[in-house]
Amino acid sequence: MCALLQVALENIRAQIIVRTTQRMNTAMTQPTLLTLSGSLRHDSVNRKLLRAAAQAFGPANVVEADLNLPLFNGDLESDQGIPDAVRTLGDQIKAADALVISSPEYNKGISGVMKNALDWISRLDGAVMTGKPTVLMTAAAGRAGGEAAYYMLIHCVTPLGAQIVNGPAVNVAGAAKEFDDSGALTNEFITSLLEKRMQALRAAI
Ligand SMILES: Cc1cc2nc3c(=O)[nH]c(=O)nc-3n(C[C@H](O)[C@H](O)[C@H](O)COP(=O)(O)O)c2cc1C
Repeated sequence: MCALLQVALENIRAQIIVRTTQRMNTAMTQPTLLTLSGSLRHDSVNRKLLRAAAQAFGPANVVEADLNLPLFNGDLESDQGIPDAVRTLGDQIKAADALVISSPEYNKGISGVMKNALDWISRLDGAVMTGKPTVLMTAAAGRAGGEAAYYMLIHCVTPLGAQIVNGPAVNVAGAAKEFDDSGALTNEFITSLLEKRMQALRAAI
């Protein structure tokens, strides 16, 4: 009787070890998704859109890049080298399996924050963005959802060699009203677009 109990306990212990190992393996093999917001605002709609995109992407190690970088200045670069914050960003891009970039529209173009980050990235050794599966999107207050900035973003990311994963454009218009108080996206049409775009991104890895 005692021996039977011992065997049963051993079986349970073995099953727990197998399940824990499976869970650890799943976590370790999850892709890394890096999100880059062209707005630094705490309450940014672009940041909220990126969080919704990460959710639509499915299981992943999600890393939010910090684009609060010094302004690009050739003197700074030649006197002090590439700033640590830019090197960190470069390492995060290299380590990521996929990127999602979202920019606000400022006066019909991408934000200065976004352009500055792209300019710094282009100065890093090793072409860190080359071949990286990337989805681009915009969220803005205007009726066109930042469409002009979206095409400028495509324009500015292209020389960096990213593998832009195309699909129906996600340009969230009147963006502030599309998220609830918790920051969650409430618009079902945009949610379904995001799901399509994120599944295509996942498939491109
Ligand atoms: C300097 C500036 C320029 C702007 N220009 C535009 C514009 O051209 N088109 C537009 O739709 N919204 C424009 N906006 C409004 C932004 O879309 C809005 O502030 C948006 O919420 C910014 O994104 P965020 O919430 O992620 O910071 C502008 C805002 C600022 C501060």
